[in-house]
Amino acid sequence: MRQVHICEVGPRDGLQNARHRMTTEAKKRWVSALAAAGVEEIEVGSFVPPKLIPAMADTEEIVRHALGIAGLRVVALAPNVKGFERALQAGAHKVTFPVSASRRHSEANVRMSPEQMVAQVKTCVEMRGASGPQIEAGIATAFGCTLQGEVPEDDVVRLAAQLAEAGVDCIALADTVGYANPAQIRRLFRRVRAEVGDKLEAAHLHNTRGLGLANALAAFDEGVRHFDASLGGLGGCPFAPGASGNVVTEDLVFMFEAMGIPTGIDLDRLIEARRILGEALPEEPLYGHLAAAGLPKGFCAAA
Ligand code: COA
Ligand code: ZN
Repeated sequence: MRQVHICEVGPRDGLQNARHRMTTEAKKRWVSALAAAGVEEIEVGSFVPPKLIPAMADTEEIVRHALGIAGLRVVALAPNVKGFERALQAGAHKVTFPVSASRRHSEANVRMSPEQMVAQVKTCVEMRGASGPQIEAGIATAFGCTLQGEVPEDDVVRLAAQLAEAGVDCIALADTVGYANPAQIRRLFRRVRAEVGDKLEAAHLHNTRGLGLANALAAFDEGVRHFDASLGGLGGCPFAPGASGNVVTEDLVFMFEAMGIPTGIDLDRLIEARRILGEALPEEPLYGHLAAAGLPKGFCAAA
């Protein structure tokens, strides 16, 4: 019944970049509320060194909690083989790796070159057994980089080909710092799809410059049916003061539902999950238009 699939990444991307810490109990309540709203997939945390990102130190426990929710697909980020081993141990359904197209972002983010990251991902593909998790590679800074500036499209296409060759199940293109515009989205999704076909699955968009929804629609028009988003646009960007986080989940759901494209997500319940998020992090800015303006009179969700 769902024609687009939305993965809520707030508990990972949002909380990692938030100024305030959320307690483990509040994270569990938030994840449960998201699932109750019909969110089918949640990136609940990342298996990174706890010393490096203390906000993700309880990821094992959040994965365990999320695995107890019937029907929910539990995703975790891993930056290397060690993180993948922790994800395997915890039983995540899907593991996503950040593989930067920008060499400088790659060095800054994971202290490895893009080629070294591809090798890490390949090792993980080989390690997982028949019942292992799905493996996704998110090509970070695919549309530009705050450190390097322009990221050549050829670099992104080549990296996607290397990741497909390494055996990943799916690839996402990520606008990590919110540089993308709709024309660029159309061009790059088309080029990468021509290279790796259906392995190209998701769009991970940030709303840093207000183009999140426009970019999502451009990606949809290019055949993309999987989107990452964060409730309340939670998060920010360490390289861009004042920046909001990912494309706002509730606004994205509203756009698709209003267009008659079912997401499987109940907007009233999603706003309830936003309330729970706001209570857990009262000082953290939340973004989004739907929560401010409410649903239009007589609004009908997509059938
Ligand atoms: N989980 C837990 N501990 C880990 C780990 C993981 N995934 N990876 C490495 N470690 C530990 C090592 O065991 C080592 O511990 P020790 O000092 O007790 O021996 C220590 O961390 C350093 O390991 P090393 O392999 O040298 O890592 P590094 O310091 O070069 O950092 C990454 C590399 C990839 C682990 C780190 O840069 C990282 O986590 N980056 C991800 C950032 C991120 O999440 N960005 C958002 C996504 S866009
Ligand atoms: Zn992101």
